[in-house]
Amino acid sequence: MSEIESVLVENRRFKPSAAFAKQANLSAKEYRRLCALAEKKPDVYWAQRAAELRWMKPWKKVCQWKAPFARWFVGGKLNASDNCLDRHVETWRKNKAAIIWEGEPGDERVLTYQDLWRETCRFANVLKGLGVKKGDRVTLYMPLIPELAIAMLACARIGAAHSVIFGGFTSQAIADRVEDAESGVLITADGGWRRGGIVPLKANVDDALTKTDKVKKVVVFRRTAHEVPMKAGRDFWWHELMKTADPVCPPEPCDAEQMLYILYTSGTTGKPKGVVHTTGGYMTWAHTTSKWVFDLKETDTYWCTADIGWVTGHSYVVYGPLSNGATIVMYEGAPNHPQPDRFWQIVAKYGVTIFYTAPTAIRAFMKWGDAWPKKYDLSSLRLLGSVGEPINPEAWMWYHRTIGGSRCPIVDTWWQTETGGILISPLPGVTATKPGSATLPLPGIFPRVLDAAGRECRANEGGLLVIAKPWASMLRTVYRDDERFRTQYFSSYPGLYFTGDSARRDKDGYVWVMGRVDDVIKVAGHRLGTAEIESAIVSHPTVAEAAVVGKKDEMKGEAICAFVTLRGGEKKTDSLRRDIQDHVAKSIGSFARPEMVRFTDALPKTRSGKIMRRLLRKIASGDETLGDTTTLEDLSVLARLREDEE
Ligand code: PRX
Repeated sequence: MSEIESVLVENRRFKPSAAFAKQANLSAKEYRRLCALAEKKPDVYWAQRAAELRWMKPWKKVCQWKAPFARWFVGGKLNASDNCLDRHVETWRKNKAAIIWEGEPGDERVLTYQDLWRETCRFANVLKGLGVKKGDRVTLYMPLIPELAIAMLACARIGAAHSVIFGGFTSQAIADRVEDAESGVLITADGGWRRGGIVPLKANVDDALTKTDKVKKVVVFRRTAHEVPMKAGRDFWWHELMKTADPVCPPEPCDAEQMLYILYTSGTTGKPKGVVHTTGGYMTWAHTTSKWVFDLKETDTYWCTADIGWVTGHSYVVYGPLSNGATIVMYEGAPNHPQPDRFWQIVAKYGVTIFYTAPTAIRAFMKWGDAWPKKYDLSSLRLLGSVGEPINPEAWMWYHRTIGGSRCPIVDTWWQTETGGILISPLPGVTATKPGSATLPLPGIFPRVLDAAGRECRANEGGLLVIAKPWASMLRTVYRDDERFRTQYFSSYPGLYFTGDSARRDKDGYVWVMGRVDDVIKVAGHRLGTAEIESAIVSHPTVAEAAVVGKKDEMKGEAICAFVTLRGGEKKTDSLRRDIQDHVAKSIGSFARPEMVRFTDALPKTRSGKIMRRLLRKIASGDETLGDTTTLEDLSVLARLREDEE
C-alpha cells in the first residue's frame, strides 16, 4: 500500500453559480433528501428512479442481492428501444431532432425521433429476417454513423443483445469477440472516414471471418462507397435489405434482467472480458444520470464526443440521452481534421450547449493552442464534462477558462464499463468542484477507500476504491464466466465490488481517483490490458518474451512501454523495433502501438517466475529508486536492463 501515494495538492474550489443552481434538474435540497432516502430506504429510492421509465409489466421486487449476483426490478418487463423512441414519438417530440450527425468529409444528416423510430423498426425486421431471435448476440463493427445507433436500438427492440466492437480494433479482436459471444450475425460498413482516409472495416471483417466460422450473415452499410468484395449468401447490403423491410415492429417486452448488451473490455489476462449489462437496471441509471449530471433540458443540444464502441458511447450517446428525449450531436471523425478547430466549429455551428469529452482530448487541444477555439463563438455552451481518466488540474483550468468561458460547471465523471453509468461526479447545480476531483458519489452509490487489510483509509490516505452496495446498472457477470466475474471483482474484499482503481478521499469526502492498480493501462482514455499487448508482441516471429508497462505521458495519460527479449540469433535493430510496433498496431489497432520497445536479454522475475512489473515501470519512467528488490530471482538482470537503456 505504500506504493499508493498521492502527490496532488489542490485547493481551488468552484461553487455552482446561483443562476445555474436555480434552473438545475437537481437542487441541493432534493439532493440531500435523495441521499438520505437512498441510505435509509434503498428500495424506495431505486423504485422512484425506475419509475421514470416506461414499463410493460411492473416489477415484484426492487433488488435481489446474493453477492456477487444482483437482480434488479425482478419480474418487471420493459423495452429499451420503446423507452428511447416510441414514448417520444407519441408526443410533440415526434419531429424533434434526435440525432444531428456530421460525417468527417462534412456531410450532414438530421434524424428526428420519428425518423430514428422508423429506421429502427425497419432494421429490427431486417434482423428478424436474418433469423435473429430474442437472446441472440449480434456483433456491430461500424463507424460513428446514425446506423450504429439504429442497429443497437433494433437489437434492443427484438430482445437481442448487441456486442459493439470499437472501429479502431482490427481483425483478431473481432474474431475473439465473435467467438466468445457466439454471434451469428455481424453488422458493419464498407468503411468509415478518419483523418481523410478510409478505415477498412469490411476488409477487417473479411480477415476476421477467416479466423472464426461463427458468423453466418454479414450486413454491410455503404458509407465510403469504395469497392469491397461481397461474399454471396453471407454478405448483404444494408440498403437492399431495408428496401423491402416492413416498417411495423412492436417492441418486444423484455424481462428487466434480459441482457441488453455485452461490451468487451480489457482485463488483467489476455482474454477480453465480456461485461454483461441487462435492461431494467442499466436503463434506469443511464436515464437518471443523464438527467442529473448533464442537466438535460428539452432545449439542449448535447454532444458526447465518445465513440459508441466504448461504454461512454453506449450510455451517454445512445441510451441515456435518447431515453430523455434529448437532441444529440454525433461526429464521425478526428478532432483535428482537416484542422484542429473541427470540434469548436461543430459546437458553434449547431449551438452545442453540453459538451462531454476526455482529458486526453483536452490536453491535445491545449497543445494545439488557444487560437483554434478562440476563432469561434462558444457562448452556447452551458455545461462541460470529462471522463475516462483523471483530469490534471491544469487541463481542468484550461477547459474551464478557454472552452467554458469561466461560466460553465465542469462535471468530472468517474465510472467504468462495469458500472454501466456514472457513479461519482459533481451535480452541476449542487456540488462545489475542485479541479482534478470527481467529487462525491451520486445518491445511492456508496464508495469506500480501503487499505489492503480492508480498513477504511483516513482522510487523504491512498487506498483501493470499492463500491460497498449494489447499484442498478452494475455489470451482472462476465459473459459465460461467472467465476472470472467473482474473482475479478468480488474476491479482494468479499461482498464489496472492487474497481481496480486507487483513490483517496479528502477531508470533505471528495474522491480523488489516482489510477489503475492492476495491469490495465489507459492510453488516451482507451483501456488496454498489458497481457493483450504482450501476446500481440510475442506473436511476432522474432520475439521470445515481452513485458508491457505504462509510463506517464503528458498527452495520452499513459504510454505503452514494451520490454522485449528476442529469440536466439535475432539482431536488436531499429528496423526490427519498428516492425514490432507495426505488428502490434496491425494485430490490435493503431491506438495500441507501443511508444517504446526496449530490447533486453532477460526480464526481472520473482523466484516463482512472475515478471516484476513494478521494477519495469520504474525503469521505464527513469526512476532510480527501485525499492524492494529482495524477491528478484536474478539480480544481475537489473544491471543488464539498465545497460540496455538507450
Ligand atoms: O481508472 C478509471 C478511469 O477509467 C477506468 C474505466 O475505464 P473504462 O471501463 O474504459 O471506462 C471509461 C469510461 C467510463 C476507471 O477504472 N476513469 C474513468 N473516469 C475517470 C477515471 N479516472 C479518473 N477520473 C475519472 N473521471
